[in-house]
Amino acid sequence: MRDLRTTLQELAALPADRPMGMPGAFYTSQQQFEWEKATVLRQGWHCLGRADEIPEPGDFFTVQLLDEPLIVVRGDDDQIRILANVCRHRGMPLAEGRGNVKRFICSYHAWMYGRDGALLRAARMENAGFDAKACRLHGHNMQIWQGFIYCSLDADAAPFGSESDPLDSLLAPYETESFRVVHTAEENWHTNWKCLVENFMEGYHLSVVHPQTLHGYTPTGLAKKSVSGPGYTSYCANYPDGIESRGLGAPGLTSDERQRSSLFARFPTQVASQAASLLVSISIFPLAADLIRVKWTMSTYGDDLDAETIQARVKLWEEVNREDREKLERMQLALKSQHAQTGPLAGEDYEGTIRDFQIWLAQQDASFEPAAQAAE
Ligand code: FES
Ligand SMILES: [Fe+2]
Repeated sequence: MRDLRTTLQELAALPADRPMGMPGAFYTSQQQFEWEKATVLRQGWHCLGRADEIPEPGDFFTVQLLDEPLIVVRGDDDQIRILANVCRHRGMPLAEGRGNVKRFICSYHAWMYGRDGALLRAARMENAGFDAKACRLHGHNMQIWQGFIYCSLDADAAPFGSESDPLDSLLAPYETESFRVVHTAEENWHTNWKCLVENFMEGYHLSVVHPQTLHGYTPTGLAKKSVSGPGYTSYCANYPDGIESRGLGAPGLTSDERQRSSLFARFPTQVASQAASLLVSISIFPLAADLIRVKWTMSTYGDDLDAETIQARVKLWEEVNREDREKLERMQLALKSQHAQTGPLAGEDYEGTIRDFQIWLAQQDASFEPAAQAAE
């Protein structure tokens, strides 16, 4: 693993005109995955979904982030909280799936918690040592950005994003924050989490892997690298002349902005595509070196798209995801080969985003050096 960490530093330092991808073990080693779990994943900000998935007080959904089961819930004060989905009595999960509750009642011994995580009732707990106030559900570090909900398992993680950030400026005319969610879905893929980040963020494969679904709208040849910065990268998938923008979107958009999809990654685990009327975001939940849970949401701008068009878009994205998944699951097996060594990457417009990700991972990894030695 020391070798992989060294290789990461070496490849990230290569000149921009001769980029190289990481060897297969970076994506298949369970030891590497455990290291990432303890460092870059534990400290990172992870998108859990859209704020308008839970519009009313008591609306909640659950999610597993690394080893932490979480409840994302809107409180009576309209605030969204991310609570540990672990009973303070003996550790039972309190909720499953999604829904709306007045109280969370544990299915084991019926301890009852409010929507803010406070313990409200615990039957027959008359021990002198019992203090209900000390049994509040843990609240995790939470941030809302552009209508997305993020969580970091590191209580000290600094918030990200500001209006002067180039990614915020790129998204501002689309009014990303105001998009409303129309579809969510989850499934497990047998791939490494970094492979899906890289796959979604490079335009090089579009015309090859998606000849029927995407090539007509976003051919590889029109892909252009866009803004990058601390913790993110992006590229523009431009539409050919004559392709009508699907819905007008926000009034402030230029015709150029209507003629492309901006694909961005917020590292480590969110990838998304912003078009005039459609916003698709994928949250990647790493489960093992070769297994992820994928949650994707589709959102639209106001009433821009009718129900039939939305259904057609859902179908299209299901097909696109199926095409990508088939490739990534086959590649995951081949990446175990001794011959899955570093390979040359394509230029800035096609795979420059992969290089950005590599450089970010290398910077993060270098910051964990003292703990690294202790762990080895
Ligand atoms: S584990 Fe929840 S009440 Fe006992
Ligand atoms: Fe793809």
